[in-house]
Amino acid sequence: MDFPTRHPNQPLPYDPSYEIEEEDEAKTIAELQETMRGIAETVHKDSGHAPRGVHAKSHGLLRGQLRVLDRIPPDYAQGLFATAGEYPVVMRLSTTPGDRLDDKVSTPRGMALKIIGVPGERLPDGVGDSTQDIVMVNGPVFLAPTAKQFLGSAKLLAATTDKVPALKKAFSAALQGAEKAIEAVGGESATLKSLGGHPETHILGETFFTQVPVLFGRYMAKLSLVPVSPELVALKDKPVDLEHKPNGLRGAVVDFMSEHGAEWELRAQLCTDLATMPIEDPTVEWTSPWVAVARISAAPQAGWTHGLSQLVDEGMSFSPWHCVAAHRPLGSIMRVRRAVYAASARFRAERNGMAIAEPVNLDHWREH
Ligand code: HEM
Repeated sequence: MDFPTRHPNQPLPYDPSYEIEEEDEAKTIAELQETMRGIAETVHKDSGHAPRGVHAKSHGLLRGQLRVLDRIPPDYAQGLFATAGEYPVVMRLSTTPGDRLDDKVSTPRGMALKIIGVPGERLPDGVGDSTQDIVMVNGPVFLAPTAKQFLGSAKLLAATTDKVPALKKAFSAALQGAEKAIEAVGGESATLKSLGGHPETHILGETFFTQVPVLFGRYMAKLSLVPVSPELVALKDKPVDLEHKPNGLRGAVVDFMSEHGAEWELRAQLCTDLATMPIEDPTVEWTSPWVAVARISAAPQAGWTHGLSQLVDEGMSFSPWHCVAAHRPLGSIMRVRRAVYAASARFRAERNGMAIAEPVNLDHWREH
């Protein structure tokens, strides 16, 4: 493909020709739906509860306030960030597996953000909603270049669901040793981390990334959420003791949030060159600068309770497709996520007998 010639740092306006349908995309969607359902079915059979097919365990359930920053550079003042505004948000911290494991099995972390009351044109299936979700994990790149290749890893992961949790724990300890050895020579391995080799550090110290792009008004962007308040910054890479603490990550969030508030910056990175910042291959890290567009602040609060788990884990779903049209997700991984997330949420709503709906405010937020 020929790419238009422009000043190297100028953002590239979106064009539909940049999105390329992957071969067999419809089949990949159907198989991913089935794979995720298989994981949730297995867990449901054992526990009587239907969780998310992945990211089943929550470690923090927070409410906060997002404020769009003043004086955002014009190219970044797009969509939701084009006008001054403040919105309530829900934040759900999770780890990747579909079964709720002992935290000693240390896996990558997720952060799902739901911004409530966002005005603007919606996609046809979201008419009437007012939420903008931003769904992230704690690394800049996705583990597979295409949805079809991700399906292969997802099937492998599904095959390990509920297979002797104690074995997973021992396996995880061995992998953490291997990960440390790899890091000592300057590398890191996404595969080892996703299988339980993630370092045992405080989840609130993490920086989170969308990894895959969204429309950003006229442009295309990846987003990240970065701790900025000093107490939160101090948690970066801070070890947590998870020995005999199956829910130690949650405990660490509760301890922190009961004493401190927290602030994050939401940053956007615009695509300036399709050759080096592809839309269709999220294993490639984009290189353009990150620019702050909003701040999220959370006052001291409970951090996680069973009541909040009912409200957020059970009563809500997060998806990049809960969005305004100006931030529509882009690329094959994102397209595939549309139906797969919706099916996963429908499955758990049916099995758990619990309605899942997009909130219009946080009036029902009760910590106990
Ligand atoms: C083809 C690729 C992907 C598939 C098939 C997939 C599938 C899923 C499914 C089925 C759920 C559960 C939805 C629900 O029941 O509400 C989920 C949740 C989640 N996914 Fe993905 N995912 C993909 C890519 C990604 C990427 C690229 C990220 C982030 C960079 C991500 C981060 C998350 C997070 C954080 C959650 C938990 C959301 C919550 O807290 O409710 N996923 N994913």
